[in-house]
This record gives sequence, structure tokens and C-alpha cells, in this order.
Amino acid sequence: MNTTTISSALIDALRTAQHVVVLTGAGISAESGIPTFRDAQTGLWAQYRPEELATPEAFMSNPRLVWEWYAWRRELVSHAAPNPGHFALATLQQHIPQVTVITQNVDGFHQQAGSQTVIELHGNITRTKCFDDNTIVDQWDETDEVPPRCPSCNGLLRPDVVWFGETLPLTALDAAYAATTGCDLFLSIGTSALVHPAASLPYEALQRGTTVVEINPDATPLTGDVHYSLRGPAGVVLPALLATTWPEGG
Ligand code: OAD
Repeated sequence: MNTTTISSALIDALRTAQHVVVLTGAGISAESGIPTFRDAQTGLWAQYRPEELATPEAFMSNPRLVWEWYAWRRELVSHAAPNPGHFALATLQQHIPQVTVITQNVDGFHQQAGSQTVIELHGNITRTKCFDDNTIVDQWDETDEVPPRCPSCNGLLRPDVVWFGETLPLTALDAAYAATTGCDLFLSIGTSALVHPAASLPYEALQRGTTVVEINPDATPLTGDVHYSLRGPAGVVLPALLATTWPEGG
């Protein structure tokens, strides 16, 4: 990332910002080794598209397949770690009074990297809930049956993530809109800006006259509307952005 391409106006906006909101997508975890949704699935799962697995209908028709896909992804996440992009966002908190991370990711890497205010729009793959009574389940009896069953109502267990066609957790969505309407700088990082309602947040910021920055190696439908488009991987661009804005470090 050529830091000379970071405009002085953006540096000033960062230095004077009081509340920065960051919307992240799968791209910020790509450098941690977690495939994005637009990446082709690999290995055993290559024959499936996420849209065919991450739905209530897919779970009802083949609960074992869906449970095992998430077990594979949970395993992937458990052997991966936050990357310099996640850590740079955590460091942002040392320079800016309020930083809110709104993530579409379910890997928990922002919290692991030290971000304090993280809104998980699509849930968290490390949490499990009952498909029937929707309660979070921390412990269950392991039997030969897959998926396991809810100890309270005997319903099938599922990951606590939002599937296609399901509504987002309303408290998370309300908090995301409140943060977006109250911030003075909005960063959209590693998201294709295709899936609503998350994809509507940067447009909400733009409508309010908030400065919007996109960080992505590729163009997205949002690129033409943002004030600054920094092209490159988040794990490179974010550390460079912080080093240029606050050369004294911290
Ligand atoms: P996508 O896979 O749609 O988009 C990933 C974005 O990250 C793309 O725009 C890539 O160009 C970009 N990207 C790739 N590598 C990157 C890197 N190193 N640094 C920065 N950006 C990089 O993932 P999302 O936008 O997160 O929803 O997808 C949004 C939602 O669609 C997901 O949360 C999921 C999916 O359907 C649910 O599961 C409900």
C-alpha cells in the first residue's frame, strides 16, 4: 500500500474524529485464512454454495449436513487468529474516543483482537442454540446422533448464526443504525456491500453527510459513492493508515 495515496483530508478526518463506525465483512478475515463467501468453497464443501447450506430449509431437510458444515467452519476458526487488520482496528481505540465495530462476520476475531464495542449482525459461530426454542445452549449430551439435541426441549441444536431468509437480531440491528447515525466517520472494510440490511449502513451514513471510506482490494457497488476508496488488503491498508495518521504510533 503506497501510503502517499492516503489523502491529507482523510488523515485530518481521522485525527479529529470523535466516533468512528467500522462495518466489516468476510474480507477482513481473509488474511486469517477464513474463506470469504464469494471465494469458491474448498474440498468436501466445494460442491455446495453457502446459500444452499446456511438456510433453515437446508437444516430441516438435512440437519446433519448443515451441522457438519458449521463444525468444519468452527474448526477452521479455532485454528485461525485475528490478523493485522483486526489489531489495527483495536489500536484505533487508543486514538479515537469512540470506535464501534459492526461486523457481518461470525468468527469473533474483532473481540479477540481487543475491539471493545463489537456489534455482531450475523451472530457468532462459536455459540450454539436450539432450533426449536431459540435458547443459547452451552452444554449438551454427546451421543451418536448428529446434530445433538437441546437438553431442555429435545429440539435439534444449530449454530447461533443468521441464516439466509432469517431476520437479524433486532437489538444488534438497532444498535448498528444508532451508531451509524451518530458517527462522524464510517469505514466499510472487506465487504462486497451486497447483503442487506448490513449493506444499507454505509448509504445511511452517506445520506447524513458522514465521510465514508472503503477498504477493499476490489471495487464494490459502494465504491462509486464513497469519499475515499483505499484499494488493498485490510491487513496491509489499515496498519498503513494508522501509521500515516499517527506516526508517533500507539
Ligand atoms: P463477501 O464474500 O460477499 O465479500 C468479501 C469482500 O471482501 C469482497 O468484496 C472482497 O473483495 C473483499 N476482500 C477479499 N480479501 C480481502 C482483504 N484481504 N481485505 C479486505 N477485503 C477483502 O463477504 P461479505 O461482504 O462479508 O451473510 O458477505 C456479506 C454476507 O453475505 C455474509 O455475512 C453472509 C453472506 O451471505 C450471512 O451469512 C447471513
